[in-house]
Amino acid sequence: MGEPRSRTKKFWRWLKKPLLLGIPIGIVLVVIGLVGFQGVMVASNMNAFCFSCHLKMDTIVQEYKASPHYVSDDKVLATCADCHVPHEFIDKMKVKIAATADIYHMMKGTITKENFEEHRPRLARIVWEDMKASDSGTCRHCHSGENFDLSKQPQRARLNHEMIEQRGETCIDCHAGIAHKRITIE
Ligand code: HEC
Ligand code: HEC
Ligand code: HEC
Ligand code: HEC
Repeated sequence: MGEPRSRTKKFWRWLKKPLLLGIPIGIVLVVIGLVGFQGVMVASNMNAFCFSCHLKMDTIVQEYKASPHYVSDDKVLATCADCHVPHEFIDKMKVKIAATADIYHMMKGTITKENFEEHRPRLARIVWEDMKASDSGTCRHCHSGENFDLSKQPQRARLNHEMIEQRGETCIDCHAGIAHKRITIE
């Protein structure tokens, strides 16, 4: 009787050593975390998620709905996340972590429909800088190869696009305001 009990105790003492217990639990948590995180990522990429805050606090959703990438509720050429969330996983994490700051601002009610125009230049600048830094990576994710065939474009577009590389330009240099009210600053 005494033998197995003390063996159990020994086992528990061994298991309770922080390091030995910590490693397997840590691995399990990381695995659960990653699986859960991917799920959150997919759900949060849906327009409905972005709309949930931006409908109340600004005019961004209405502007998007009047833009060329939105055809109807059933036909959307690009979602909010398609343009704003980079495709690489690590970049996604960075964006999501930065988005927790958004949640803080939202709860504080810093931005409202009334004062949005005062905040807009600051926010637009963040987006432009991100897009310039990534060479408009989210745009190019869709507009490349067959989907960006210069020979099939009208002359005006083709002439502008032919020289992009030589001139060191990127999509957002010319297509600012593609989804939202056009603003000029700087
Ligand atoms: C919990 C509310 C909330 C949700 C959900 C939300 N946003 Fe925001 N968003 C905000 C707030 C608040 C700001 C303003 C942050 C600030 O003042 O710096 C903001 C700012 C932005 C900006 C401006 C640039 C920047 O990085 O701050 C972009 C772009 C943006 N959101 C896109 C999105 C997209 C895309 C989604 C869906 C994937 C989304 N938002 C979901 C509240 C939200
Ligand atoms: C999820 C895919 C996707 C993303 C991301 C995307 N687009 Fe598009 N875009 C399309 C499709 C599809 C069309 C319609 C077919 C076409 O013109 O190629 C379109 C059309 C356009 C047009 C023509 C609009 C008009 O007036 O008819 C422009 C300009 C454009 N996109 C620029 C951009 C820019 C700039 C970005 C990045 C800020 C971007 N797109 C991001 C898919 C996308
Ligand atoms: C030097 C400025 C400039 C740059 C840089 C630029 N564009 Fe354009 N783009 C234009 C102009 C001008 C048009 C024609 C618009 C019109 O006629 O209304 C156009 C048209 C388009 C169209 C519509 C083409 C069609 O078939 O009608 C798409 C899509 C587009 N651009 C996407 C992009 C993407 C993606 C990038 C980045 C790879 C980009 N553009 C970079 C100036 C530019
Ligand atoms: C076709 C790509 C595209 C789509 C789709 C798109 N955006 Fe944007 N967004 C941009 C660009 C580019 C900017 C930078 C400012 C500009 O040029 O209009 C921007 C700027 C913003 C800003 C900063 C305020 C401003 O006016 O500049 C917010 C907030 C934002 N987007 C949220 C959203 C949300 C939420 C959605 C979906 C309802 C969305 N965007 C859909 C391309 C897009």
